[in-house]
Amino acid sequence: MSYNLLKGKKGLIFGALNEQSIAWKVAERAYEEGATFVLTNTAVSMRMGTIGQLAEKCGTIVVPADATSVEDIERLFDKTLEFHGGKFDFILHSIGMSPNVRKGRTYDDLDYGYLQKTLDISALSFHKIIQVARKKDALNEWGSIVALSYIAAQRTLYGYNDMADAKALLESIARSFGYIYGREKKIRINTVSQSPTPTTAGSGVMGLDGLMDFADRMSPLGNATALDCADYVLTLFSDLTRKVTMQNLYHDGGFSSMGMSARAMSVYNKNLELEYRDVKNR
Ligand SMILES: NC(=O)c1ccc[n+]([C@@H]2O[C@H](COP(=O)([O-])OP(=O)(O)OC[C@H]3O[C@@H](n4cnc5c(N)ncnc54)[C@H](O)[C@@H]3O)[C@@H](O)[C@H]2O)c1
Repeated sequence: MSYNLLKGKKGLIFGALNEQSIAWKVAERAYEEGATFVLTNTAVSMRMGTIGQLAEKCGTIVVPADATSVEDIERLFDKTLEFHGGKFDFILHSIGMSPNVRKGRTYDDLDYGYLQKTLDISALSFHKIIQVARKKDALNEWGSIVALSYIAAQRTLYGYNDMADAKALLESIARSFGYIYGREKKIRINTVSQSPTPTTAGSGVMGLDGLMDFADRMSPLGNATALDCADYVLTLFSDLTRKVTMQNLYHDGGFSSMGMSARAMSVYNKNLELEYRDVKNR
């Protein structure tokens, strides 16, 4: 259902790789809500994924850019400003990758070159994008910038590895730049801390299926899907949230406030019973 929530809004969306991507769902929903936007991803991801189909569907262009390269980002902003015929209103940062996770290097055996890449791709890119946006004065007043985060920034979750450090940095950048950009241009900057979601990046996390099941059992509303996430992000791009800034906003069905739920406890108890029976049988 469309509410025309973003009618007349113009944006830039990073990170749509394929139909599973959270950024893909944001783009589809933003289009339905009346926004126009430019899509971007790395040249490699454009070849690997299906972003061209999304662009066609949303009547827009895809501009290749590596979000770790300031030069690429500057070129991307020039093209986006040209596409919109001037300033625009929203940016989505939906970018994450850890070479340590990909190569199976555990947190107690990190490759530091990879760690730098993790931080650069997953967190510093957010700083670079905002810095370029501000220097080029690319955003309209009361614009909105959103990045996607995960609760591993606050709590230790097995297998999330150095991405936890990247998310902590990402959320800090939202606060630090949120102050500067808010004070000067009324631009708001927030992070959305999303439930585990079955996407290409998500499936890189060790034991995603178990993590998703655990989070779902713990969350009174169940896990938030990519589409749920898109709907929430749209509200942050809309004029209905103009005074929300420098926040890390949990979008996780209640997971972040839970300690133990009956649904999670039932699995735990079942396992204990099995273990107990095992011990008795031995
Ligand atoms: N999937 C989950 O469980 C989950 C949960 C919470 C937060 N998130 C976050 O959501 C965001 C989107 O991930 P997703 O789950 O949709 O997976 P995804 O794999 O679809 O998206 C990740 C994107 O990052 C892009 N990317 C990687 N390196 C890049 C670079 N150098 N420059 C530009 N883009 C680059 C990839 O091409 C891809 O499009 C990430 O920040 C991720 O950490 C995901």
